[in-house]
Amino acid sequence: MVSKRVLSIKPSGIREIFEMATVDAINLGLGELDFEPPKEAREAYKEALDHDHNRYGPTKGIDPLRRKVAGKVQRYRKDITLDNVVITASGTQAAMAAFQTLFEPGDEVLIPEPGFVLYEPDTMMAGATPVPYPLRYEDHFQPDIEALKESITARTKGLVVNSPANPTGSVLTLENFRALKDIAHDHHLWIVSDEVYEDFLYGGTHYSFNEVIEQAVVLNSFSKSFAVPGWRIGYLTAPLEVVDHIANMQYHIIACPPTPPQFALAKVFDVQESFLRTVMPVFKKRRKAMVDGLNDIKGFHCHLPEGAFYAFPSYKQKIPSRDLAHKLVANGVISAPGTAFGGMGENHLRFSYAASEENITNGLAIVKKVVETL
Ligand SMILES: Cc1ncc(COP(=O)(O)O)c(C=O)c1O
Repeated sequence: MVSKRVLSIKPSGIREIFEMATVDAINLGLGELDFEPPKEAREAYKEALDHDHNRYGPTKGIDPLRRKVAGKVQRYRKDITLDNVVITASGTQAAMAAFQTLFEPGDEVLIPEPGFVLYEPDTMMAGATPVPYPLRYEDHFQPDIEALKESITARTKGLVVNSPANPTGSVLTLENFRALKDIAHDHHLWIVSDEVYEDFLYGGTHYSFNEVIEQAVVLNSFSKSFAVPGWRIGYLTAPLEVVDHIANMQYHIIACPPTPPQFALAKVFDVQESFLRTVMPVFKKRRKAMVDGLNDIKGFHCHLPEGAFYAFPSYKQKIPSRDLAHKLVANGVISAPGTAFGGMGENHLRFSYAASEENITNGLAIVKKVVETL
């Protein structure tokens, strides 16, 4: 009745937990900020509606916003201009357009595991084969460069990178960033770099694959950095010879990104910095509460995440992560099972600290109690 393609895609292991939750469950599973967007952004959106920006727009997005994005990205690479930028209807759709443009049947695409839920289905929907490269707790979720090199074959066409990472919270080191650039260069691979958490760093530096835009498509989003996931607006940067192909693909997916949020964001783009200056200290405090609380649970071990807003503890108890997440939600705490991010995520859970300190403390008290009964 339906295509084999859609049947090959697994339903989300995160959504399943949310569907089981009662309304009063403590939500430590959230993949979005628990902040309202800056007031200026909301005002600018209303203004865009009132100024009749309600029609179709250009497929690549409006130039004022593309120019603003290029201005931000120039911190990584001076010669990037608006011509390298495509505004998209979210990071999710940016990924779809990029994978559909770059990969085809017969190609292999290296994807991180545990890794964000889009990379495997997006690779498969392009007809290509996902080849996971493991990120291990004991390596602080950094890629094992030698192992990654060994998994490259004549068919390898792409390398997906996500830093700061969902679900692990790890940030690529300079050494590994350089190693991945070299691998992509030596083996003529496309890098698809998902940098939607680039602004969510707790110290340290974000290394952006915009530096090597000749062979990279860099995905980004306003969902996290402006707290507007419901606006469905993002962007990507790509080499000039690829941009028009992506735009062609994008035309057939969405025709054009939504118009009103583009006018709003072009107007208030620079507010992002001050917004993040208020948000990040709050997240830094929550991060500590989360990690301290998790390390206080028997059998749990959690690194201090360097970026994003997720903690990804390992646990020693002999229970599959899906079962443990089910037990936790039955007791009133939402988390995500590690296996929702691939098989290498087994024996881990993902907790989001886009939640109040009170919810973190109360939620982890329940987790501790549940785990002690195992
Ligand atoms: C790593 C990563 N990439 C991409 C996205 C997609 O973001 P959006 O589609 O809201 O722009 C998310 C959302 O959670 C994410 O965590």
